[in-house]
Amino acid sequence: TSHQFHFLCAGYAPRSCKQLKDDFNVHTDGLYTLTTADGAVYQTFCDMTTAGGGWTLVASVHENNLYGKCTVGDRWSSQQGDDPRWPEGDGNWANRNVFGTAEGATSDDFKNPGYYDIRAEDVSVWHPKLLCLMKKNNPTFVFFFFFFFFFNVKRFQVKFNVGGCITNNGPSIPIIYDHGSRATTTHFYGPSARTQFDAGYITFRAINTERAATAICSGTKPKGCHIEHFCIGGGGHFPEARPRQCGDFTSFDWNGYGSHNSWSASRQITEAAVFLFYR
Ligand code: G3P
Ligand code: CA
Ligand code: CA
Repeated sequence: TSHQFHFLCAGYAPRSCKQLKDDFNVHTDGLYTLTTADGAVYQTFCDMTTAGGGWTLVASVHENNLYGKCTVGDRWSSQQGDDPRWPEGDGNWANRNVFGTAEGATSDDFKNPGYYDIRAEDVSVWHPKLLCLMKKNNPTFVFFFFFFFFFNVKRFQVKFNVGGCITNNGPSIPIIYDHGSRATTTHFYGPSARTQFDAGYITFRAINTERAATAICSGTKPKGCHIEHFCIGGGGHFPEARPRQCGDFTSFDWNGYGSHNSWSASRQITEAAVFLFYR
């Protein structure tokens, strides 16, 4: 759009959606062009309205095929099989690799340079169904949203066998809900999985019984060790019933895909991408 060209022609480009809001007076949700400190140019979605706006979409974690088990599309765990010799998996939680597009972010993985370029103070997480249906137009498609003070997920290695379950988990941060509640979060997961967490938090680098590491438990704080049914992303090795627990949405399908029985998550949460925003 015209204002994007204006920024480039002016020789001064916004580095984040917050800067776009504060310095360029942009207050409309949408796709914008941002530029990193090193000059890399990319397009992403800016949420300019939630809780004061200025949120930059930096990543989407999406499960394309739960039957795959650490195969193609499992960029947030391993695309190269479940293997103890591949403890960090693809390593995309910590590296500077980028992939996907903002337009495709509800139906595929997305990671842009903002993930490592923007210094976030807050992080918000959405479980949207369709990016083009923004929350004002279609509130039913936003499952829930929350934000918290930033903790750098990269400080906590997402790697098999770095520590024991619960004791060596990363931080759990209380969340503020914009849509949804602790009750709706709890209900996304199966009855057995619910015994393993308290809702109302986000947790980084949670570890399971077999010392497999996941990256994020969105909406939950583990109190048990069977975290593979509600935490996402991870390293390249999940020993239990190998390779059944390996993948971007780990073992959301342990008792059947979308069945919502026993350890299995609901179809709704299984099929929703997880969007990470920085501000
Ligand atoms: O994570 C669940 C698993 O460790 C136990 O499953 O099938 O014995 O109930 P199951
Ligand atoms: Ca994926
Ligand atoms: Ca288990």
